[in-house]
Amino acid sequence: MLLLQGDSIAMTFDRSIKIAPSILAADFANFGAEIEAVEAQGADWIHVDVMDGHFVPAITFGAQTCKAIRPHVKTIMDVHLMISPVDAYLQGFADAGADFITAHYEAGPHIHRTMQNIRDLGCKAGVALNPGTPASVVEELLDMVDLVCVMTVNPGFGGQKFIDMSLKIADLRAMIGERPVHIQIDGGVDVTTAPLVAAAGADVLVAGSAVFRGGSVANPAPYGENIRNIRKVATENAAE
Ligand code: DX5
Ligand code: ZN
Repeated sequence: MLLLQGDSIAMTFDRSIKIAPSILAADFANFGAEIEAVEAQGADWIHVDVMDGHFVPAITFGAQTCKAIRPHVKTIMDVHLMISPVDAYLQGFADAGADFITAHYEAGPHIHRTMQNIRDLGCKAGVALNPGTPASVVEELLDMVDLVCVMTVNPGFGGQKFIDMSLKIADLRAMIGERPVHIQIDGGVDVTTAPLVAAAGADVLVAGSAVFRGGSVANPAPYGENIRNIRKVATENAAE
């Protein structure tokens, strides 16, 4: 069967717990093999953090790197844009093969247009909220997005301490109702914090350091153990 972008088998909507390793915590000299290793060890999505040194302090990489890693991603390529401005760059990430493109509410004045643009490019649209931004700002967007990303750290670096946003997640879950919109959590997710966010209503858990800790391409078994452990405690505590 020919699979077009956005058509892959895992794209049907459900609220089961999904683990999305962030390659920010992988070996930057070996992304292809790292992605294949975490997918073989049970990753559901691959989370790709794009940083511009302007919206956030650090710089990672751009659309060319996303295009280069795309053939290694057999699941879902989930691109998190921590860049401002964002609109002029969307085409490049869509051409690179992103399944989801997430932009920050705080990155510019026209989030509604940005979400429209992402969908017009044939990708799933995500809106991310910094810890200081309330859930209520997405109310007018919920019929035009596929994902809301609740940041549980201030974006810019991996390995930061988790900020408890359980009330915000629960508010968002109630606001979403029956709409097919994922709630993604990004920042400081591990076996201690995953149950809290799952109980509040999250379904996509991004984890960088907590997945890649202790393993490598040569020794990938710890990746699998880390993914299974996070998935287990999250699923046991999931809201529904
Ligand atoms: C933070 C990034 C996250 C980061 C998460 O700005 O958006 O995706 O990689 O890393 P951990 O899981 O280590 O907090
Ligand atoms: Zn991220």
